[in-house]
Amino acid sequence: MTIESPDDLFERLQKDIFRQGYSEIAFSMSQQELEEAEQRYLQFLTLPAAEKEKFEIWIPGLHRDNPSKGTRFGYKDESRDEGQGDNKEYFHHGHFLRKGLAAIIRVSPQEVKYFIEAADDVLAAVERAMEPVYEAFDTKVSGFAESFNQTPYIFLRFLSYKPVSKGEELAIGHFDRGALTLAMYENRDGLEICPATHDDFHGKTNAERKDKLERVLRRLQPVSHSPDSAFLFASDAISSIMADKEGYLTQFPKGYHRVDEKHPEGEPHERRTAIVAFISPKEGVVIGDWNSRHPSAR
Ligand SMILES: [Fe+2]
Repeated sequence: MTIESPDDLFERLQKDIFRQGYSEIAFSMSQQELEEAEQRYLQFLTLPAAEKEKFEIWIPGLHRDNPSKGTRFGYKDESRDEGQGDNKEYFHHGHFLRKGLAAIIRVSPQEVKYFIEAADDVLAAVERAMEPVYEAFDTKVSGFAESFNQTPYIFLRFLSYKPVSKGEELAIGHFDRGALTLAMYENRDGLEICPATHDDFHGKTNAERKDKLERVLRRLQPVSHSPDSAFLFASDAISSIMADKEGYLTQFPKGYHRVDEKHPEGEPHERRTAIVAFISPKEGVVIGDWNSRHPSAR
């Protein structure tokens, strides 16, 4: 990819995001390096639960509806049976974890150290890749770059879906948490994205809502990664960040996405993995509730 001016980059991002719900930006890690990071994450997952569960640190003040509610960095084992999430194990890496859990990392098994080293590299690559994006948005929304540069609220998520029952979806349609998402790795196809706003899911009657949802689902398009680039899309909090800014960005479309992959009948389930970063500004206050991120699940 050639170097673009901030104005040109914004124009390209805007055009892509309005048309297809995402754009692509240059990302400095190769597929091979990302696979290496993925393998180190899978090695981390082989550790006993007690070892993995040491990686937990809570940051308050990020939930729009309830600022006293914490947000987790670290390891999480989530089951659909026990709550609203998907069946997955994930790890949120970030600066808070690096600092807050430094003493634990120092005395951890090799698997942990190797994984955290790789996660540090991916996090640094995310920060490098996002700088021009912040500058691009800054051409239209003044203060954007100042508010996102060196934000500690990058949740770098290493994700591994667990087997689900036959016919069950791996990840139901949703908007991501945070303001911007950078998705740099999936171990296989299956991710689908389209542009959507909250209005796409609201209707006066159930019939209207159903009709609107069907239209959104028809717009979903399968995507696959091209080398040395990552998908950029807007997420749940983009509207609240833009709401007090100049008009047109308030309806900036977000990337509505799901994983269209069901457990294949009669075949052993192989882990599906992904690496993705949820990015919020330094001011925080950016995570909406589960329903606002899963507007089709109500
Ligand atoms: Fe997502």
